[in-house]
Amino acid sequence: MKQEIQQIQAEAQADLATAQNEKDIEAVAVRYLGRKGALTGFLRNIAKLPPEERAAAGKQANAAKQSLETAVRKAREELERRAPEKTAAIDISLPGRPAIPGHTHPISQIMQEICSILERMGFSVAEGPEVETDYYNFEALNVPKYHPARDMQDTFYISENIVLRTQTSPMQIRAMENQTPPVAVIAPGKVFRCDSDLTHTPMFHQVEGLLVDENISFADLKGTLTAFVHAMFDRETALRFRPSFFPFTEPSAEVDILCVMCRGKGCRVCGQSGWLEILGSGMVHPNVFRSVGYDTQRFTGFAFGMGVERIAMLKYGIDDIRKFFNNDMRFLGQF
Ligand code: FA5
Ligand code: MG
Repeated sequence: MKQEIQQIQAEAQADLATAQNEKDIEAVAVRYLGRKGALTGFLRNIAKLPPEERAAAGKQANAAKQSLETAVRKAREELERRAPEKTAAIDISLPGRPAIPGHTHPISQIMQEICSILERMGFSVAEGPEVETDYYNFEALNVPKYHPARDMQDTFYISENIVLRTQTSPMQIRAMENQTPPVAVIAPGKVFRCDSDLTHTPMFHQVEGLLVDENISFADLKGTLTAFVHAMFDRETALRFRPSFFPFTEPSAEVDILCVMCRGKGCRVCGQSGWLEILGSGMVHPNVFRSVGYDTQRFTGFAFGMGVERIAMLKYGIDDIRKFFNNDMRFLGQF
């Protein structure tokens, strides 16, 4: 009896020692521990032994089973440890794979260009969080809770008071909280809205601008933005200021430039209007100054927020904004 178990055990150990791979180990496990395995069969036959031998034989067989199970597990672990060298046959004579040089994404290029034009005008760059509180994204910008103006932007809410920022405008508040006028900042970054079509993506980029000082007028806004468009495109680029509404500016205007795809004739990119909106702007609303404690009698200012992808589309003549984010190297490689 004892000998029989010892023999099974010895055979199993020997088989395991010669196992080369996962399949061999599995075969050993099946041969001895499987439903029809040698050890399993032995255990099943214990009932047929004379009563006085059963206890000892059972104990021994179970011990053998456990030790074999451990051995199988160890063999598997060992194999896993060695696996990498075993499977990867390295041919050191093969030529290396050519490294494709990377380059800046077209959107990043345009962002850098926008910022450098505005920095030359005297604005300095500030960056802030993409996950923003309701207060900075809305409340402090004169957009109270439950105000219908919240419908202008489809918001991704993280929780009741935390959002993915829908605009870079919260940076106006953060910038003003940190300094006293004169303030001249731009804030580039990612923004998020539940939006998707030819000219909208759920993640896009804006560059915010804010100028606050004594005697800032709408003429300064028009002059600054016209100079910007002429520097970004060329001096012949047609642009128009179209009256608009934003809760945080009064009066407000959106700036359109002539559609580069159809030159104003009307196409699917500009929705047949001949113009493409690139930014929103206006004179900072007194309520916004109040939320940061600025003297509304003494200071005035203008702000703007531009869509970087829109400017990139116009600059490169791209008819679908989503191409920027499909990561198709044939597309990205052109820039
Ligand atoms: C705003 O976001 C205001 N915060 C802009 C502003 C700032 C006004 C300061 C006044 C003062 P609007 O939702 O229109 O405004 O977006 C600004 C620009 O972002 C648009 O002109 C457009 O160029 C771009 N834009 C808007 N939604 C998308 C989108 N889903 N995908 C790509 N670009 C977009
Ligand atoms: Mg708009």
